[in-house]
Formats: sequence, C-alpha cells, structure tokens
Amino acid sequence: MRTVLVTGASTGFGRVTAEALAQRGHHVFAGVRDVGGRNEKVAAELRSGGVTVVELDVLDQASADAAVAAVVEADGRLDAVINNAGRMFAGPVEAFTAAEIQTILDVNVLGPARVARAALPVLRRQGRGVLIQNGSLAGWVAMPYTGLYAASKAAVKALVETWHHELAPFGVESVTVDAAPYPTNIGANAGSPSELDRVAPYGTNFNGFLSDVMRRARSSEPGDPREVADAFVRLVEMPDGTRPRRTIVAPVSERDAVTAAATAADAATGAVATGMGVDSHLV
Ligand SMILES: NC(=O)c1ccc[n+]([C@@H]2O[C@H](COP(=O)([O-])OP(=O)(O)OC[C@H]3O[C@@H](n4cnc5c(N)ncnc54)[C@H](OP(=O)(O)O)[C@@H]3O)[C@@H](O)[C@H]2O)c1
Repeated sequence: MRTVLVTGASTGFGRVTAEALAQRGHHVFAGVRDVGGRNEKVAAELRSGGVTVVELDVLDQASADAAVAAVVEADGRLDAVINNAGRMFAGPVEAFTAAEIQTILDVNVLGPARVARAALPVLRRQGRGVLIQNGSLAGWVAMPYTGLYAASKAAVKALVETWHHELAPFGVESVTVDAAPYPTNIGANAGSPSELDRVAPYGTNFNGFLSDVMRRARSSEPGDPREVADAFVRLVEMPDGTRPRRTIVAPVSERDAVTAAATAADAATGAVATGMGVDSHLV
C-alpha cells in the first residue's frame, strides 16, 4: 500500500487515477480546490470511493504546504506525488496578454514547483519517494495556436529533468507521463485570449485549425483516460529505483517519434555537460 497525493483530482485524469489507485488498495489523498464550494459534490463522490480529499489549490504555496502536512500527519509518510493539475489555453500567441500568459504558467509550471517544494523535504528525509508529472506530448512539439500550452509543458519538462539529476542522490525519483490528447474536461476548462481584436487577423487559419482538430477527434475512437491512469498506477506500484524516467502514452508512430526526440535530448544533455566539464553530475 502506497500513500499518494494526486493534484487536480476533481475531474479528468486526476480523478480517474485517484479512484483507480484507491481501488487497488492505496491510500490516496485527492488534492481538490474549493472543496467546500464548487467541488463539494465531487469531493463526496471521491470519499465514497475510499479516497481522502484534501484542499489543494496549486496557485497557493500555503495550500500546497497544508495538503502535504495533512498527508504526513495522517500516514507519517508520502510515497508518491502525482502533479496532475493543469489547464490548456488555445489561441494565437500574439492575442494573449502578459497577464494571461502568467496565468497558464502559474498553474502548469509554478503549480508543480509549489507542490514539489512542499513535498521534497519529506521525500528527502525519507530517502525515497517519487514525483510523477503529468506532462504532455505538447512538451516535445510546438504547433500553431497551442503555443502557450506547449511552452508551459516544455518548461515543466525541464524542471522534471532537472529534478531527476538533483534528487537521485537523495534516493528520490522524478518521472513524467507524456500523453497524447484524450477526452477529459481539458477542452471545456481551456482558457482563450480576451483581446478578440488580436485574434481576428488569425481568424480563418485559427478556425481551420480548430475544425481540423475537431474533425479528427470525431472521426476516431476517443481514447479512454483510464489508459493514462493505468500508466500512473504502474509507476506508483513499481519498486523504487526501477521507474522509467518517461512514459509516453500515445499511438505507436507518435510514441516512437517522441521517444527518439527524448533519446536525442539525453545525448545532447550529455554532450553539453561533457563540454562544460560537469558530466559527472548527471545521473
Ligand atoms: N486531456 C488531454 O488531452 C491531456 C493530454 C496530456 C496531458 N494532459 C494533462 O493532464 C492534466 C490533467 O488535465 P485533464 O486532461 O484531466 O483536464 P481536466 O479534466 O480539465 O482536469 C484538470 C484538473 O486540474 C485542476 N486544476 C486546475 N487548476 C487548478 C488549481 N489552481 N489548483 C488545483 N487544481 C487545479 C482542475 O480542478 P477544478 O475542477 O477545480 O478546475 C481539474 O481537476 C493537465 O496537466 C493536462 O495538461 C492532458
């Protein structure tokens, strides 16, 4: 039985993962924001499935600290943190104000950093434990109209890779699950630019992009978010020290292409570190 904290567990991958882990006998702490308000019903449903609900807004360091403290007070340990909370923003980059760009970086990049900052003293003291990031294929590629999301997922990928090297000496693992698109609430919860006069010049191209995305989504069998939850469950249950750094959940051609990009990125990291004379600090 593992003690696991899952952020963003009210819907989507977070909820399915929390429930799947609880069904397998793990003690799951589901991080949910606004437990006493908007998410009250979801929180009750999670509790009835054997999940413990903790208030956790990843925009707030005090909230992350309190959630981790609640886990440790209850169980005396923390085995795995699944940094899942996140949002998608769609639109031409030019159309987003700096404040809107800060909004997405706040949840998708600073959010996992806050949760890690809360959890790492516990994991380091234990000399074991794992940070599992819900990344995305978007962290590996950039395409029009999803640039802010891609930038946030590339940024958090850099943190995850850095933690891998920094935390290994403490016996703590840092791994990621990078998934292809799945039908969760991500579209309904997506942000868009407020300055519509900045969107207008891109209108035809942007709308064409969106309708191509929708046509593809409708024409194929929608993926089951449980495929991604299964990847999280496998990583939680693996023996310490054996977890792969990256799990890519995607159709074979995309998985193989991203795996090749990751292998090349590792080789580049090694070469640059060697050039800097710091390769002995890599894991
Ligand atoms: N769906 C995909 O195609 C896909 C593919 C690859 C990766 N991902 C990643 O998967 C993760 C989960 O997304 P999803 O697809 O499951 O979408 P989702 O159904 O919209 O779930 C997002 C979750 O994040 C939570 N959240 C948002 N802001 C938060 C905050 N400030 N503090 C705490 N929780 C917050 C939401 O809570 P509220 O209900 O309170 O808003 C919700 O529980 C994201 O990191 C996303 O980037 C998604």
